[in-house]
Amino acid sequence: MKVLVVGNGGREHALAWKIRQSPLVTELYCAPGNAGVAEIADCVPIDASSIVEVADFAQTVKADLTVVGPELPMVLGIGDEFVRRDLPIFCPSRGAAEIEGSKAFAREFMSRHNIPSPRYEVHTSLDDALAFVEKAPFGYPFVVKADGLAAGKGSIIAHEAAEARTAVEQMMGEKRFGSAGAKVVMEEFLRGEEVSFLVLSDGKRVVPLASVQDHKRALDDDEGPNTGGMGTVSPTTILRLDGHKRIMQEIVVPTIAGMAAEGRRFQGVLFTGLMMTDSGPKVLEFNARFGDPETQAIMARMRSDIVPLLQQGAAGQLGETKIEWAKEPSVCVVLASRGYPETPETGHAIHGLESLKDWSDVVVYHAATKLEGNEVQTVGGRVLGVTALGANLEAAINRAYEAVGHISFEGMHYRKDIGRRALARLQRPR
Ligand code: AMP
Ligand code: GLY
Repeated sequence: MKVLVVGNGGREHALAWKIRQSPLVTELYCAPGNAGVAEIADCVPIDASSIVEVADFAQTVKADLTVVGPELPMVLGIGDEFVRRDLPIFCPSRGAAEIEGSKAFAREFMSRHNIPSPRYEVHTSLDDALAFVEKAPFGYPFVVKADGLAAGKGSIIAHEAAEARTAVEQMMGEKRFGSAGAKVVMEEFLRGEEVSFLVLSDGKRVVPLASVQDHKRALDDDEGPNTGGMGTVSPTTILRLDGHKRIMQEIVVPTIAGMAAEGRRFQGVLFTGLMMTDSGPKVLEFNARFGDPETQAIMARMRSDIVPLLQQGAAGQLGETKIEWAKEPSVCVVLASRGYPETPETGHAIHGLESLKDWSDVVVYHAATKLEGNEVQTVGGRVLGVTALGANLEAAINRAYEAVGHISFEGMHYRKDIGRRALARLQRPR
């Protein structure tokens, strides 16, 4: 069968890498891909957000399945465009993707369906938002969020009134995040450990993926600005069996049921960002897609063939499948460009990739890379995701960093502590 992957990041390389291993797949395409994806798939120069062109391409090559990585084409309605043309796609509809595309919609949806959340208020005028800041009914800190997609930068944790006012004025007055600033969501600040929880859904049933934990801040010890994600470990050492069960029962199952009840077709990945608070798991945010770099750590451990799962998901026919996972933990370390996340430098040659090709326990997923002549170069902020398996978490961490030591490019930076906190938790007596 013919499969098309849409997107150009590390997540899409990890998906393409896993799909390529399926004996069912004869042809694999990626729109537009990157230098790493180009080694295993036919890359076509179509931007992921050009949804009509992507659908035209899928129709021309008669793709049997399309899988979408990034949020923008989802929110633009690529799922609906494919369904309208009767082309199989693993991607939620535009209506379902609103759960990621609008934070106000997501919070109101959670209220309608009694899904555990922080207290919140939605404000549509600058005056009302500033009046909220004066009263600060949730105390400090609280969280100010621009309503729409803001590339992970639209949430500000305000520790005092001046900070909250500045955030509101930047979002609603100066329109720093464009139309995303037309509404703001004010949220109670939740305390606890953050966990990502991903499931595949066919719109009715769900199949959980392996547990995983991201490291969002740019610098070691969770310092520095928020990023798209600087590294992941799978499985997480936070979630025990009871936590897993509660998340499924209190959050994931009612969310998918709520989507179905509202006529929002959710055939894709529901990715819940959670805070494990003293009073149980609560939702920080929903995404309607695979995480990046969560997917890199997850695909490295997946033993089952992913293609039938994606096909069943797209067809609304997921069975009672249980996915098989490698017992070995995986660790993904993101190598970023100088200046990331604000203004990453680009155009530097990447050295050392060849030397890792034979390492059977390491995969280097490409993200912002391109091939220029014979040279692989950086083209954006998150450049590579060096992913290793190990007999235990410590071995996986060590192996990932050993591999990182073979790679270099001008201005390369990465966190040195990916998985360290998870390891410390494991080593503490329970
Ligand atoms: P979001 O923009 O909703 O994805 O949030 C980005 C990050 O901000 C999350 O990963 C959390 O670390 C933090 N965050 C968001 N909402 C809250 C909240 N209500 N309480 C505490 N931290 C939050
Ligand atoms: N790593 C977080 C995300 O994909 O949104």
